[in-house]
Amino acid sequence: MSLRPVVKVNRSKPLLEGAGVKVHRAFGFRDVERLDPFLMMDDFHSDDPKDYMAGFPLHPHRGIETVTYMIKGEVEHRDNIGNQGVIGPGDVQWMTAGSGIMHEEMPKRTEGMMQGFQLWVNLPRAHKMMPPRYREVKREDIPVIEPRIGVEVKVVAGKVEGALGPVKDLVVKVRYLDVELAPDRQWELDVPEGHSTFAYVFQGKGSFDNSSEQFGPEHLVMFGDGDSVMVKSRQNGVRFLLVSGEPLREPVAWGGPIVMNTEEELERAFEEINEGTFIKDRA
Ligand code: FE2
Repeated sequence: MSLRPVVKVNRSKPLLEGAGVKVHRAFGFRDVERLDPFLMMDDFHSDDPKDYMAGFPLHPHRGIETVTYMIKGEVEHRDNIGNQGVIGPGDVQWMTAGSGIMHEEMPKRTEGMMQGFQLWVNLPRAHKMMPPRYREVKREDIPVIEPRIGVEVKVVAGKVEGALGPVKDLVVKVRYLDVELAPDRQWELDVPEGHSTFAYVFQGKGSFDNSSEQFGPEHLVMFGDGDSVMVKSRQNGVRFLLVSGEPLREPVAWGGPIVMNTEEELERAFEEINEGTFIKDRA
């Protein structure tokens, strides 16, 4: 086994998104090459409703998937083709925008801390215009396994030691895990060679290769190639998302919430929004 080294660490950057929601961007445009097929990830957490109540009013998506995972609090969503629901604590929404949807995502007022993540997964050329689809996964349908004592893994997508996540038949091969280590634990996990891999810490602190440097909340740890990753916790334990995916290696033309392969496809998408012909399929 060759252990993947940590090659880059980002501190997530505060910025305003939607109608004025304070988010922390773990990565975006500048890391696309290293993290392909992943385009972007936001961490939103706050104990002040003023930071998130403005929400994300009606906006389009095309050519990507958005993966929303809530830790605490709730987000209500509604789209123009009749889908709506609430993503509650521990729930996941894996939304494939494909040819296009228009939706709103509105956090609900929460007592105390609210926290969630949204990851964007790029779609390959052959699937960018596929019919939209939703996977709504409730907390209780996500397997929780304990591969070692003091290591707890929630398997959202992909497989760990025989436990298969409920989000299946993905267009792009992605593994999405929520991993928690009790204090003073160590765990090593196989990750397919060549798959882009990152960890995003949101509780405690951990080190992610043989160096002793530890990273805490709001840190994105990017791994180089190899066929396994290793994590070690010390006195406070650590909780993080561990995500890997097979790169698409296709040109990226990115215009806000729409990501295509060429500038022409982007222009067409925005023309269609103006002309009212953006929506192609009714999921
Ligand atoms: Fe959205």
